[in-house]
Amino acid sequence: MTDRVISFRALSEVDLGQLYVWLNKDHLRRNVQPEPISLSEIHAKYLPRLALDHPVNGHMVCLDGQAIGYMQCYRVSTQADFARDIEEAQGVGLDLFIGEAQHIGQGIGKQMLRDYVTEIVPALFPDERTCFIAHEVTNEAAIHCSLAAGFTYTRDIVENGKPSKLLTKQMC
Ligand SMILES: CC(C)(COP(=O)(O)OP(=O)(O)OC[C@H]1O[C@@H](n2cnc3c(N)ncnc32)[C@H](O)[C@@H]1OP(=O)(O)O)[C@@H](O)C(=O)NCCC(=O)NCCS
Repeated sequence: MTDRVISFRALSEVDLGQLYVWLNKDHLRRNVQPEPISLSEIHAKYLPRLALDHPVNGHMVCLDGQAIGYMQCYRVSTQADFARDIEEAQGVGLDLFIGEAQHIGQGIGKQMLRDYVTEIVPALFPDERTCFIAHEVTNEAAIHCSLAAGFTYTRDIVENGKPSKLLTKQMC
């Protein structure tokens, strides 16, 4: 990918309709949103995250100013199930997806993950040193994307009951 500008903005209420559209798309069915989700379920899940003191920080990912995906980060210590599954007590957990399927497989995923770890996570969590991301073992695109973004394979885990790989990146 060349000359394309990735930027992030904090999730806001006006974005929830876009999340509803994306999360019901076929390409997110396997690894992100297995069941169709309603707009009211989107509101119930994401509206609380707009509060400044909510532990999950959501961001819209923009490509040349146009929203194309979503990322979120949170202290591992605030997510008991995730902390148990990854067998870690500290650090920051990440999730990501590209909602606009035409942008998949063009190098955007690795750039947005790399930029998020450099720009967003340290600003939100200046005292944390490690980022964690977990992918199902079958999600080769996500695993390769995280490796390409500078994460390293750490160990096999079971996340939400599914065999997964834990990848780690140290922040400067
Ligand atoms: C995972 C996701 C963000 C990756 O973004 P992307 O833009 O498609 O990935 P990129 O084009 O940046 O590719 C990054 C690397 O992965 C490789 N890759 C991409 N798809 C691959 C695949 N299906 N199999 C093997 N390698 C793959 C690329 O070749 C590239 O490697 P390189 O830099 O060494 O050439 C995107 O595919 C997505 O949103 N998928 C659906 C949601 C999802 O699964 N999210 C993760 C949930 S944990």
